[in-house]
Formats: sequence, structure tokens, C-alpha cells
Amino acid sequence: MTSVNDIRSTFLDYFARNGHEVVASSPLVPRNDPTLMFTNAGMVQFKNVFTGLEKRPYNRATTSQKCVRAGGKHNDLDNVGFTARHLTFFEMLGNFSFGDYFKAEAIEFAWTLVTKEFGLPADKLLVTVYHTDDEAAEYWKKVAGFSDDRIIRIPTSDNFWTMGDTGPCGPCSEIFIDRGEHIWGGPPGSAEEDGDRFLEFWNLVFMQYEQAEDGSTEPLPRPSIDTGMGLERMASILQGVDSVFETDMFDHIIDAAASAIGKGPTAETVASYRVIADHLRSMAFLVAEGVLPANEGRGYVLRRIMRRAMRHATLLGTSGPTIFKLVPALVREMGQAYPELVQGEAMISETIRLEEERFLKTLSRGLQILEDETAGLGEGDTLAGETAFKLYDTYGFPLDLTQDALRTRGITVEQSGFDTAMAAQKAEARKNWAGSGEAATSAVWFEIAEKHGATEFLGYETESSDGAIVALVKDGQAVDALKAGEEGFVVLNQTPFYGESGGQVGDTGTVAGEGSRAEVLDTTKQPGGVYAHRVRVAEGSLAVGDALTLSVDHARRTAIRANHSATHLLHEALREVLGSHVAQKGSLVAPDRLRFDFSHTKPMSEAELKDVERMANAIVLQNAPVETRLMAVDDAIEAGAMALFGEKYGDEVRVVSMGTALEGSRAGKTYSMELCGGTHVKRTGEIGLVTIIQETSVAAGVRRVEALTADGARAYLEEQDAQLRAVAAALKVTPRDAVSRVEALIEERRQLERQLADARQKLAMGGSGAPGGAAAEEINGLTFLGRVVEGLQPKDLRGLVDQGKKQVGSGIVAIVGVTEDGKAGIAVGVSEDLTGKVSAVDLVRLGSGALGGKGGGGRPDMAQAGGPDGSKAADAIAAIRAQLAGA
Ligand code: SER
Repeated sequence: MTSVNDIRSTFLDYFARNGHEVVASSPLVPRNDPTLMFTNAGMVQFKNVFTGLEKRPYNRATTSQKCVRAGGKHNDLDNVGFTARHLTFFEMLGNFSFGDYFKAEAIEFAWTLVTKEFGLPADKLLVTVYHTDDEAAEYWKKVAGFSDDRIIRIPTSDNFWTMGDTGPCGPCSEIFIDRGEHIWGGPPGSAEEDGDRFLEFWNLVFMQYEQAEDGSTEPLPRPSIDTGMGLERMASILQGVDSVFETDMFDHIIDAAASAIGKGPTAETVASYRVIADHLRSMAFLVAEGVLPANEGRGYVLRRIMRRAMRHATLLGTSGPTIFKLVPALVREMGQAYPELVQGEAMISETIRLEEERFLKTLSRGLQILEDETAGLGEGDTLAGETAFKLYDTYGFPLDLTQDALRTRGITVEQSGFDTAMAAQKAEARKNWAGSGEAATSAVWFEIAEKHGATEFLGYETESSDGAIVALVKDGQAVDALKAGEEGFVVLNQTPFYGESGGQVGDTGTVAGEGSRAEVLDTTKQPGGVYAHRVRVAEGSLAVGDALTLSVDHARRTAIRANHSATHLLHEALREVLGSHVAQKGSLVAPDRLRFDFSHTKPMSEAELKDVERMANAIVLQNAPVETRLMAVDDAIEAGAMALFGEKYGDEVRVVSMGTALEGSRAGKTYSMELCGGTHVKRTGEIGLVTIIQETSVAAGVRRVEALTADGARAYLEEQDAQLRAVAAALKVTPRDAVSRVEALIEERRQLERQLADARQKLAMGGSGAPGGAAAEEINGLTFLGRVVEGLQPKDLRGLVDQGKKQVGSGIVAIVGVTEDGKAGIAVGVSEDLTGKVSAVDLVRLGSGALGGKGGGGRPDMAQAGGPDGSKAADAIAAIRAQLAGA
């Protein structure tokens, strides 16, 4: 049997032999297109190559591209399970020519591959061409030898391929196989064409035009080729089975489903198995790319796919989560070709299981209501839109799930009633919001949110993508354009720019369109999930509707990521070291630093800080993958995730986990698990190094650590090191000896100071040669010793006065000390026998006055004072002398 894996390699090898570069599949979430929900064809990654905007080093390529058609222009969701050929996820094999070969060669390549390599019988094949494309019809006649009746001309858009509302497009030619009369259906263009007998398996698009937003088309610079063959369809043909679901790959997945459910498919239940098998592939690949179930945008399409599959699992009699059990089987089948499935296996299983748990809580109740409401209805009847809305709003039933559930009974849903109820709910939300007080400043954002919905954030997965401008704001008003030199805000339908929140600063970078460029100075999140990019237009002008290429400043974002992940590591380390009373009180995650505030009543010791640092760095060294999951808040908290007390979270939260605890109470368990919407490193090794640079107090009971990571930490440590080396060089020792050398110097200095003070004292009291002084003198019958001493501290003065008193026996001693910074102190002593006549306190006050000071105090025999002006030292002595003379 030719397996799916064989077919894929036969196709790629054939085109590689024919000069085509084998190019890897691009992601399902397109990075290069602002309007596409999912990659829906092989050509999506080459869109700009066709239009000439992008150059590649080859002009022929071949791919096996993962595609999802479950939203947007090509949407097959409703058909899946009910036909033999529709899938939401499939692989598209394609060959591409970028201005190289065109129709003739494309048709020839296709014919040779199909009939020679795959060996399909020529007489069972037929083709369609666009009704005016005589050229293609001619080539088919020539290459395949087809008669006119096997070249069917189709006048409709079925044979004019467009990727989305805009982009490269052109007439196409599809190849069909007739699988025999035993299957119902007619050839393309006939009334029975929807049947499964005639199966289209390869579409050759002759890319000739580019379609603009207004529907007009321009010729492409060089005509090109884009072809797409459904791998699963080709497998069903080559394996001789009637439907894609009977091919080897689906067979194995459906077997796995049968054993998980406990019974195999029957004619009545087979559609449900098929829905589950197909939807499993879509959900697994989308989750592997970081799309998570949500209530908006791509995440909502994913949720619809998941819930549709879940309802079918319930139809098969399951009551608990089941679909997640099929992930290993899928990984076995496709993991080799798509390693992202192997890498993401645990996360895929868990995301599916959680969504199953979440939905199963309300599913049976919702189905009961659906049953009650439709009890009296039959074929051709309609279910009230309001009921469908209630199922949506209260029980989480996407509209298409309700439609799907009623489809087999021929009951439709009144869409307009559903839409009206939805609009009424939005209006209500708006009214509540209008009363909330933020109205004036935010009115413009709320209007944008109402009109265009929340911005889709792509920044967890990518730093660059395309986006379409949905609104522009200048000075608080919506405007149509921003011109060169102007500043304002840009709102896009999707963006990789992170909007400031949760302590993490907003991204900066650039946005560029055709002839326009603007710097993104900051990004913030506004009401309603609208991302506002504050820009300054550098070139040209930006207008609503423009498609822009959006590029986040990579180096800055890389630094922010490392700092954010490090914040989580520090948070956990602080709890381990200080205790579980540590709770986050605030944080700042910027490119150049991080700051983490937490509850703790006293300063951290040096040893505690080192412990925290050491623990955080141990996890850095684990180079552990950082895992993000989406969980219900309660489940996340129950699982031990840290949340901010008092913070308002939605029903579902992102939970970021990293590392394995090596020590402490949680050894062997996940190290850090936090509710967090920020952007993080992929592996902890990218943090490089965590260095705490400061620990301070911010408020009563709240401490703050500031830290650096990666390049910032290294630069800081380098600087510290350079300082140490400079110190060591100045000391003329090695850095290792610097501390003991400095300690020795300090000790030496202390001794020298002591010696110097002694020497000064001796000198001061040592006779008439001493500076500023004279020997004791006789004034008015009293012995007076007055001295000015330089370089003495006030505390030394008393000692000198005592010494002087001993020297003179009976008399008065006044010493003025002038410090090195030019201030002065004065001490006066009076021998006991004279205290009745003169008071040391009075004299010291006089002296202090001369020094520009006030006051002074002490006892009659010993008093001390200070004064700011040391240059008046001699005046102070003179004042005392004069006083004694007059006494
Ligand atoms: N783009 C075309 C398709 O999707 C051919 O690859 O059918």
C-alpha cells in the first residue's frame, strides 16, 4: 500500500528532481498576511514572491504545507464528517514557479506525475479549465490526449482561484478522477457535482493577477504557477478507498478513538468518528503553534473545532474527557513529518483535556435544553435565534455546534435572532461600561473595540507579522490618516507588539507599508482588548485599510523576555528562602532591569540574597523549557499556580511554568507556576544569569529587589570587576588581595591618626614654640594659658585643658581647636580655687561668640563650645584675655 508518508515523499522527490527547491511548511498562523485566518493553501508563504515584493534564491519550489480550512474564505468545517473528502486540517502538496515555467510545463509535470509516478489510469481522469482559458484546454489536449468532453469548461469562481479577499490569483485547472458508478455523484459542472464519485485531487493555478481590496485586478510582474494536491485525497485514491477517512493515517486514528471510546464505528456513528479524527488533527496542530482556545479570533475557531468534536464524542456515549487520549496516536502518525507535534505533545494533550473538562460541565445541560426546545420541531423547521444565543452564552455552544446538532434532523437556526441577541448583549455591556467613569478618555477606544473587536495578539509566537490598520487615533479622535512627522495611535487587526500590562512594558519597533514607515514608540492595551501602538510617522503616511509589515524591536524584546522569566524565578526563590508569606505586590519588567516588590517585614540578609540568587540561577542552568497552558482560573489555582491576590482574571488564564525544584519542600516538582499574560523565554537558559543588584524598602512591610539578567547582568558584573581591578592596581596587589590590603591600610591609618593626635597634643602643650600659642601669662593677677591648636577634634580639647590645668596649678586654661575642615571648638578650664571669681561657662561663651557660634555649656571649672569659623581662633583667645584683664 502506498502510505500517506510515501505519497508525500514521492511528490516532493519528483519535483526536487525537476529542479524545485524543497521548502518546509510554513506555520498555520500566517505571518505574512493580515487578512487570512489560517494558512489555507501552499501558496500562502509565497504570496509576496508572486507579487515580486520578496525575492528568494530559487524560482521553483515544492512543499507539503499544513493547511486549516475552518474559518475565513475557505471554510470546510460544516462539511467535515458528512462527505468523503472534506477536512478542516489537511496537507497540501504543491509545486510553484515564480516567473519561471507556466501553463504548458505545469500541465506536463502534473500529467507525468499522476500517470507515471502515481500510476493513475488515464482513462479515469478528466479536468476542468476556466471557461475562457483556451490555452489550458489546448495543452491538456496535447499532453493528455483528452477529447473535448473530458476538458470541462467552468464559468464560475470554482475555476478562478483567490486566496482571500486580496492577493495573487488566477484561472485554474482542476484534475478529477472518476471513482466509479458505485458512488453517487456527477462530473464537475453537473447537477450532481457535489457527490463523491468525481473527486478533485489537484488544482493547478495559473497565477496571473493580484487582486486589490476594491476587487480590481492588476497583472503580476511575471506569470507564475501554484498547484495544490490534497495529500489525503491522493491517498484515498491510491489506497483504493472511498473516503479520505479510510486511508491508513485516519484508520489508525479512528482505531485509537474506538479503543478510547470502547466501541468501533457503525454506519450510523461513523460520521462522529470522522469528525473527531479530523478535528483532532486541526486542534493538535493549532495548539502546537501556540493558538489556544479563546472567545475571539483564531482561538475561537479552535474552540469551535474542539467543541464540535467533543459533542460528537458525547454522541458516541462518552461522559469524560476522551479526545485528549488520541494525541499519542496522532503523534505516532505525523510526528516524524511534523516534529512540532512531538515537542508539543504534553501541552497539546493537556490543552485538549482542559477544554474537554470545561465544556463537559455544561454540555449535557445545554443538550438537554436543545432537546426540550426542539421537541416539537421537525424537518424544515427553525430554532429560535434567542435559544441558540442562550446556548452560546450560558452553555458555551458555538452557533455552528448548535447547527451541527440539528442538521441530521433537518432543523435550521434563525441566524438573525441570534445576531440580534448578540448585539443586545454588546449594547448592555457598553451601557455598563459607560457608567464606569473612565468614559471620557477611553471613549474612542471603546468605539474602536465595538466596531472592530479586540486586536489579535500574535506576539507569543512571533515578533513580526503583517497587519491591517483598522483605526487611527490622533489627539483622542479617530482619524483617517497620519502623515509624516505626526504622532498618533495605530490599531491593527492583529499584532505581534505586546501591550503594556502585568508589569511588562509595551513593545517598540517599526511598522512599514508601501512607501510608509513609522516608529512604534510604545504599545498599550486599551478597553476591549484594543492594542494601541503609539507611533511617529517617519515616511509617507498611514491610512485606515493599509496593510503593514510589523516588526518588534528584537533585541529589546529578547531582553524583556529574559527579565520577565527571571521575575518568576525570583518570586519562587524568595518564597523558598523567606517563607510563603512572600506575595507579589508589584513588578516592573523592562528591557534593562526588573523589579519585584513583595511582602516581607525586614531587610534581607546578605546570605538570604545570595540564596535567592543561587536558586534562581540553578533553574537558569537547567535550561528547562518554559511551558504555557491555558487553564480555568480555579483549576490553575488548585494546581498551585501563583496568582495576584485581588487581581481580576477572566475565566481562562495563561499559566506559565518553568523548571524543576531541586531542593526544599517541592523538590522534584515544577519549580515556578504562575498566572501570567507576559512574554517569556523558550528555555530558562536564555536568561543567562540573574544578578540581584539591590534590596530596599518601598513601604511598610513591602520590600523590593532589583535585578539584572543576561547581557545586562554581564555588563554589570564586568563593570564591578573593572572597578575591583582598578582598586587592586592602585593598591599594587592582585584583586584577590585587595580586601586584606584595604583592611591593613585602614588599620594603619587608624594607628597613624592616633599617633598624630598624641604628637599634636604634646606639641600643643609643649612650650612657647608651639604654633598659635604662648607660655602662660599673668593677667590681672591670674595665670592664663591660651592656645590655638590646628588639626584637633573637639573631643580632644578637654584632655588638653586638663593637662594645662595641671601645668599652671592655679589659673585659667583656654584651648581653641581648629579642625581640618576649618571649624572650631573651644574648651575652658578654671582651677577649683578660682571658680568663685571666674566661670568657665562665661568664658567659653565669649570664645564661642568670637568663633561665630552661640552658647556652650559645662560647669564653672570646665566648659566647652563650638563655632563655625576656625579662622577666628586667635580672636576667641583674645576675647577671653580681654575679659580677664577687665575682671
Ligand atoms: N492555491 C490553490 C489551492 O489551494 C492551488 O494550490 O487550491
